[in-house]
Amino acid sequence: MRVITLDCAADIGRAAGEAFVQTVLRKPNAVLGLATGATPLPTYAYMADACKTGKVSFKDVSTFNLDEYCDLPKTHKNSYYSFMFENLFSKIDVDPDNVHFLNGNAPDDRAESARYAAEIEAAGGIDIQFLGIGRNGHIAFNEPSDRFTNDAFKVQLTDSTIEANSIYFDDVPMPHYAMTMGIGSIMRARKIILVATGKSKAEAVRAMVCGEIDPHCPASILKAHPDCTVYLDPDAASLL
Ligand code: GLP
Repeated sequence: MRVITLDCAADIGRAAGEAFVQTVLRKPNAVLGLATGATPLPTYAYMADACKTGKVSFKDVSTFNLDEYCDLPKTHKNSYYSFMFENLFSKIDVDPDNVHFLNGNAPDDRAESARYAAEIEAAGGIDIQFLGIGRNGHIAFNEPSDRFTNDAFKVQLTDSTIEANSIYFDDVPMPHYAMTMGIGSIMRARKIILVATGKSKAEAVRAMVCGEIDPHCPASILKAHPDCTVYLDPDAASLL
């Protein structure tokens, strides 16, 4: 795990965004694993700008998002599907047929997990996976637990996650369940970029970087990945 502390969120957006741009320049049909949350926004702004100025084209990439809420229509403004179109897909030349999401409303979550795993495999596997981190060390929606997961699954969200994310829900209550890629799906990506900013992430970052590999801090598994880069701002790095 390479840990790099930069001055501010904009610098992190440039560094992480450039990693995605370089991947696509080297491999125009790259498979991108994408994340939601506030922390990825400067990275998505950088990627959109790189596309607008003609530095890179995303027209042949495929994308797979990490997770999606259950019991929320896909078109609701708080779905991760809506988030991705609003913040990235509407601003780059990606083919909407090549973007993939877990279906949080699938009637059979095991079949949905198998479908997603098969689609990732058919696309050739994820070339570069983007991650944020939750205050409790979660990645995607892999909450702290007694074991590391493998493929996608349906998860009951923890109080910490519900408290952190419910600020975005003003018209409907925040869902308590989500479909998420598992730790195995994330670890199979060829390259991983994790971004974290702000004091509220400092303890999770400390546990991830300095602690043992432990499913009670799911992000700690990233230390076992051969090509994982973590970009932090000084606040997120403050307990290292
Ligand atoms: C959600 C997402 C995660 C994300 C986390 C942190 O729980 N499922 O993928 O990393 O939020 O989000 P933020 O960047 O807004 O702090």
